[in-house]
Amino acid sequence: MNKIAEIFSSLDYGPAPESPEPALAWLASKGGKFGHFINGKWTKPGRVFASDNPATGRKLADITDGTAADVDKAVKAARAAFPAWSALSGYERGKYLYAIARLVQKHSRLFSVLESMDNGKPIRESRDIDIPLVARHFYHHAGWAQHLEREFPGMTPYGVCGQIIPWNFPLLMLAWKIAPALAAGNTVVLKPAEFTSLTALLFAEIVEKAKLPPGVVNIITGMGDTGAALVNHADVDKIAFTGSTEVGKIIRAATAGTGKGLSLELGGKSPYIVFDDADVDSAIEGLVDAIWFNQGQVCCAGSRLLIQESIEDRFIAKLKKRMSSLRVGDPLDKAVDIGALVAPVQVARVRDLVKKGAAEGGQVYEPDIDLPKGGGCFLRPTLITHVSPSHTVATEEIFGPVLVAMSFRTPEEAVQLANNTKYGLAATIWSENINLALDIAPKIKAGVVWINGTNNFDAAVGFGGYKESGFGREGGKEGMGAYLKAKWEKELKPAATAAPAKAGTPSRELDDHDGIDQTAKMYIGGKQARPDSGYSRTIHGPGGEMVGEVGEGNRKDIRNAVEAARAALGWGTTAAHGRAQILYFLGENLEYRADEFARRLRAQTGESLASAQKEVAASVERLFAFAGWADKYDGAVHNPPSRTIAIAMGNPVVLVPSERSPLSVTDLYQVIETSDVPAGVINIVTGASASLAKTMAEHDGIDALWFAGDAATSTMVEKASTGNLKQTWTSRGLYYDLSDKAKFEGDYFLRRATQVKNVWVPYGA
Ligand code: NAI
Repeated sequence: MNKIAEIFSSLDYGPAPESPEPALAWLASKGGKFGHFINGKWTKPGRVFASDNPATGRKLADITDGTAADVDKAVKAARAAFPAWSALSGYERGKYLYAIARLVQKHSRLFSVLESMDNGKPIRESRDIDIPLVARHFYHHAGWAQHLEREFPGMTPYGVCGQIIPWNFPLLMLAWKIAPALAAGNTVVLKPAEFTSLTALLFAEIVEKAKLPPGVVNIITGMGDTGAALVNHADVDKIAFTGSTEVGKIIRAATAGTGKGLSLELGGKSPYIVFDDADVDSAIEGLVDAIWFNQGQVCCAGSRLLIQESIEDRFIAKLKKRMSSLRVGDPLDKAVDIGALVAPVQVARVRDLVKKGAAEGGQVYEPDIDLPKGGGCFLRPTLITHVSPSHTVATEEIFGPVLVAMSFRTPEEAVQLANNTKYGLAATIWSENINLALDIAPKIKAGVVWINGTNNFDAAVGFGGYKESGFGREGGKEGMGAYLKAKWEKELKPAATAAPAKAGTPSRELDDHDGIDQTAKMYIGGKQARPDSGYSRTIHGPGGEMVGEVGEGNRKDIRNAVEAARAALGWGTTAAHGRAQILYFLGENLEYRADEFARRLRAQTGESLASAQKEVAASVERLFAFAGWADKYDGAVHNPPSRTIAIAMGNPVVLVPSERSPLSVTDLYQVIETSDVPAGVINIVTGASASLAKTMAEHDGIDALWFAGDAATSTMVEKASTGNLKQTWTSRGLYYDLSDKAKFEGDYFLRRATQVKNVWVPYGA
């Protein structure tokens, strides 16, 4: 057969190499050695470490390992630059962001080549995905800068943001962090990952070219210790981190009690669900993208294939065939599908996990395809079948080109398997039945759900997870809001400590009340409940007199309450109108008994009857306000530049702790019982609030925790919540005037009660 006929029959590609020369020339122009970029200047290289090309093992450059003193210098520069930068108009800041976007585009090929050499990802991906999305992020946020005042009235930037990013999308993660931070008016100190610092350093040149004021963007290189120094620096106002769950937990604990803003974008083990009516060929192509994009080193990689049993054999056979046509090779070859993993340590980690998968009974398949000769961090695409949900490879994030497959019979089973993970980042659903797909999407606890598509990203659409995938969103309006703080919140003063009990005579009303022995019980799962401990605690009035007794709640009561609350999760999918009706009804019934509640308040606090009456009236009004919100605080349709729409939806969480005036809260169960509130939606446990708060913070069944109280307990709550990385709100001993309607009758708590979930649906195709 002649050569042309041969190519036609094999459909083989020849090599199409991109030249490394321009990137090598740029590195040479820097002497192959880099310092930090601080206050608009390059520092002299200090103690250095090598940054290697993972495809060849050859050194690309020497990078400075930042010390705590370097970090301090960078934070000081960012602090000094903050007043002038944040005082610029949004339009002025937007113009800088626009200039950065244009410059990234102008130098896009250099960025792509350098990224592929440094990280090992195929040039096809760096050129067509990473770098264009970087430019898109800066354009998108240039727009936000200008519209900030209109869209976020009363909000102000945090100040200095410390940003720590991973190695899997080095420049793209930089853009995700820096673009919104600058748009909001913050200044930044960013630390790239030690394996991949080069494009961040090239970006520093773009910052110079765009003539950003010195100190607005500082790039500091180094290892984990450098990151830790940034996290622990007292003058940093917010930390944004993307990386492993393990480090995310360390950062959560380190920032507890500091009042620093925090967003964590961590690992995942995302399900890729294929129903028997799916377009199989498309689902296979999607899967190639889901798990072999970037060698599988993607936090939202579709790494758990869940396939409906009736099509399992056919699908797996087709998948194996497709795997054998994937090309693993030189990242700079434009015809290569899978490049090199980032470093030998990652190759070893992935190999270990695959070995474990085999040892636990999985069947490992690798297609018989060539790997590049001469070493380098290359691995074949791998599929592990005969896996059960408890296997290590089904639960641990592998972060490599390894797919594990399991089957399911019914949609319910698919949902169960999909949610059987400590993570909650992303999910993919393939089905030609739109009813089925849209029924499954809300049932999966994941921050992003793709229907009949996968790995869609855009600056206009938020991205982020639940559970151990972290909290906070990047992209979209919610991502923009994460770099802003209410102005008043920056000016809060410490709350006065509770006045000591005054001597005084019990009031008439109190005597009346006390005439009947009322036993205030707890309220769990729609029923009054006695405390597990069998103990009661006495509640004293301001004069030291006894005004009642409440149950001494313990760990077991909290467990029961959480169980009841989780059984009532259907509340979140109750029609918004229905939820509003119940909240209105609660308000109405509370008002009906307003006088009784006011007297009870007065007995406990010693305030005047008029003031207690005002408080009850304000509570009724607040119930009405949030009833009003129930059917209005909803999603938005975003407009990413592909033919899909993303429906953003919030999930409500209900929690009720109490200690200060427990009797008013325990009285409330009578109101709850008469207001059609479904059992388990509101549970009341009384007792020592600090120890109950600790139990709640540690409880994995609680997704979010609000604590109003002193600074020490607030710190403890934040520290103890690292286990399942629940989102917390704490008042840290500061005085929040909750009667302030302008501040608290809207967005402020609604945002803390929800995390946006983005569902990508094909549209208009
Ligand atoms: P890592 O979480 O250690 O590194 C991410 C960034 O955090 C780097 O810039 C690193 O220098 C910095 N860092 C490390 N320790 C720190 C500390 N104590 N305080 C502050 N910053 C610190 O991730 P690593 O070790 O590179 O990868 C290990 C595994 O983590 C991977 O195999 C993968 O499973 C997971 N990972 C997940 C990512 C994601 O996007 N979800 C990204 C990178 C890694």
